[in-house]
Amino acid sequence: MTAPNVARGAPAGLLDDVLRGLTANPKTLPPKLFYDATGAALFERICELDEYYLTRAELSILREHAGEISAMAGEECVLIEYGSGAGVKIRLLLDALVRPAAYVPIDISREQLGRVAARIQREYPRLRVHPLCADYTRPVQLPPLGGHGRRVAFFPGSTIGNFHPAEAAAFLGRIRRTIGHDGALVLGVDRRKDPSVLHAAYDDPAGVTAEFNLNVLRRINRELGADFDLRRFRHRVLFDDAASRIEMHLESTCAQTVDVAGLRIAFERGETIWTESSYKYDEERLASLAGAAGFQIQRLWSDDGDRFWVAMLVPIDRPNGA
Ligand code: AVI
Repeated sequence: MTAPNVARGAPAGLLDDVLRGLTANPKTLPPKLFYDATGAALFERICELDEYYLTRAELSILREHAGEISAMAGEECVLIEYGSGAGVKIRLLLDALVRPAAYVPIDISREQLGRVAARIQREYPRLRVHPLCADYTRPVQLPPLGGHGRRVAFFPGSTIGNFHPAEAAAFLGRIRRTIGHDGALVLGVDRRKDPSVLHAAYDDPAGVTAEFNLNVLRRINRELGADFDLRRFRHRVLFDDAASRIEMHLESTCAQTVDVAGLRIAFERGETIWTESSYKYDEERLASLAGAAGFQIQRLWSDDGDRFWVAMLVPIDRPNGA
């Protein structure tokens, strides 16, 4: 039975995720809740902010090194993209790859996936495009791809940073099994850097990231009939040096109680809901993550400001060693 006030179109599992997170200690909410239509539009604005260097840095690396990446990927590869979104970055690879055999975009948003896959199929008529609508953080079953082609996974955007290390290793381990012994993974990774640069990127002066964070509460109000008063929460960002992560929180500015689908959730003044972690990697941490998932680093490309990496990871146990 649906709880009272839960909107008809609310995604399955939303209520469970929210109640589990808000009754935990500390309170948390999963970052996937950011991306309703408003949140997705706010994220696009974040990517254009001067302070949010990640997107531009990664694009500059892909533009500059697409030739080398594609030479390493090899001819007639099967490209598998985890979280294909608007399909912008993949074109840089598709334009550089030599006769790519197939492209498998995986995304949870069926509508965007269908639109982007159809456009790519029109623009690259020789490519076999097999869109797969799925939550890629769970085990996914690839469509039959025929026998040929090295499998090359693509996971850009530093989204790996939003996984806690054990989850990141488990996720990359699944990619490793999907691509097989002779596959490769092209991974976008944000580098560890001066915390002041990170603070500016995640707490921008125009307040777009604050709005993105607070929008989660707006979404819960709308979809679960909750009564969060957004004026009583504020965006908080902190850098945990030992864990090497930026954390985003929503801090309660007073003692208050909020109704979420009939449950009263109490907040103390200053208590926070932890909404996102963004892990930042140095080479040692990246090598250790790769190793835990059965990969090794074959190559790292950086941008001019040494802020971001595009990494080529290959299985440790690939044929012929090297
Ligand atoms: C999607 N992800 C890689 C972004 C990040 O940088 O962790 C999400 C984000 N959160 C705040 N700004 C951007």
